[in-house]
Amino acid sequence: MLTLRHVSKEYRTGLLVVPVLDNISLSIAAGEFCALTGPSGSGKTTLMNLIGLLDRPSRGEVEIAGRSTKQMTLDQIALTRNVMLGFVFQSFHLLSTATALDNVGLPLLYRGLPIGERRRRATAVLERVGLSHRQNHRPDELSGGQRQRVAIARALVTEPRLLLADEPTGNLDSRSADEVMALFLELNRDLGLTSIIVTHDPSIAARCPRRIVMRDGRIFDDNHGELREYAR
Ligand SMILES: Nc1ncnc2c1ncn2[C@@H]1O[C@H](COP(=O)(O)OP(=O)(O)O)[C@@H](O)[C@H]1O
Ligand SMILES: [Mg+2]
Repeated sequence: MLTLRHVSKEYRTGLLVVPVLDNISLSIAAGEFCALTGPSGSGKTTLMNLIGLLDRPSRGEVEIAGRSTKQMTLDQIALTRNVMLGFVFQSFHLLSTATALDNVGLPLLYRGLPIGERRRRATAVLERVGLSHRQNHRPDELSGGQRQRVAIARALVTEPRLLLADEPTGNLDSRSADEVMALFLELNRDLGLTSIIVTHDPSIAARCPRRIVMRDGRIFDDNHGELREYAR
């Protein structure tokens, strides 16, 4: 599903070159559920931005579903991102003036789907995340855990092949965090959705079959999903 080959990333600020990712190679198969962990500043978000095609590596190659993105034009990259990837963020990124239903339907508006079809699909996905009874509420009328479930529904509505979540439980109390993690694991189990979850919370990471640990811009440890049965 995802292959990184010798990926490096550095930022340039004036004359200064700051190396952030150093020669990362990594392969994630379809259906895997991975935690990406490591201390703050170790490069997790930078790596997720490369995997999510929001940024390009300084060196090396990102391949998604067997297709290298290295030679792609910006349009091809945007298309690949829209068709293949779903994103969930720490701070939800919901439209505060729109209902849950309209937030979830928004990606389909960008795809040009008519309102009836948008509503039908958004309703189905909200039901999938257990929020049918909240579909006409705005974000400020929902709890943190519910907001994140709306954001997950919005990520799912385009039927992505790979779900990327950067600290999705970072703004939640521990009970809501547990519920959101349970939902991610359920989506992986029931839909086979390949998922990468960034977290620096060891108890969240412990629930993920595969754990990739970063340190100083490199992969420090990777259990390759060896503890799959145990972790579930
Ligand atoms: N746009 C940028 N310009 C310069 N340095 C950056 C930029 N983004 C991130 N960094 C640096 O890269 C390192 C890794 O950051 P990040 O990927 O956000 O780590 P993490 O998500 O693991 O906390 C940090 O030292 C950070 O300061
Ligand atoms: Mg980060």
